[in-house]
Amino acid sequence: MKLKLKIWRQKNFETKGGIVNYEIDNISPDMSFLEMLDVLNADLISKDLDPVSFDHDCREGICGSCSLFINGQAHGPDRLVTTCQLHMRKFKDGDTIYIEPFRAKAFPVIKDLVVDRSAFDRIQHAGGYISVNTSGNTQDANSIPINKDDADSAFDAATCIGCGACVATCKNSSAMLFVGAKVSQYSLLPQGQTEASRRVVNMVNQMDLEGFGNCSNTGACEVECPKGISLDNIARMNRELLKASIKK
Ligand code: SF4
Ligand code: FES
Repeated sequence: MKLKLKIWRQKNFETKGGIVNYEIDNISPDMSFLEMLDVLNADLISKDLDPVSFDHDCREGICGSCSLFINGQAHGPDRLVTTCQLHMRKFKDGDTIYIEPFRAKAFPVIKDLVVDRSAFDRIQHAGGYISVNTSGNTQDANSIPINKDDADSAFDAATCIGCGACVATCKNSSAMLFVGAKVSQYSLLPQGQTEASRRVVNMVNQMDLEGFGNCSNTGACEVECPKGISLDNIARMNRELLKASIKK
């Protein structure tokens, strides 16, 4: 395949960025999107030019590092996949592809297509954990009976990989699908009850401090989420927050 790429290049947070045009040839439809960018970068390096910076790690859809806005969609045109799992067969020979970073005030650009998503880490630090005594006397989790539906919903929520596609897709740059998933994975299980009130209040406060917007109820986040995280998690988070405020 021969492709025209229009890629966002930006030296750093302080510098103004812009779209730069590239042409690329000999791309196999079986390559992943990131492999296609590897080919471009190998060519740029061979010409002593600055390669395009982009985030990646596992390249198997589990780490949440890859974060590209491709032709106006987070993680590109395929459904339920991350950018690293997107294949070039989803495009046609001769296509023009726009590649931009995930855009949100709370995700400042570090360089080119790499954005700083440490705001998500700080939200997790605010409450996305349970305190467990690991002295060796910890009760085996399997000894606590859990309703199958709750276990399944908690597991589904826990599949959120923290990629930030929900934020990049939302017109308000809301992080509520992410935070809803992180709150839900604990609130559905007995192990999460002890710190439940503190957790939801602290995580939502941190989310607001980081500058994410409110939920716009359009549901675009759910559509673009590579892990199919349901909007139900946002409703559950709001219920947990209401419960916590009544308990005060
Ligand atoms: S909710 Fe979905 S889109 Fe948002 S961070 Fe988690 S996996 Fe990514
Ligand atoms: S590189 Fe890990 S999910 Fe894409």
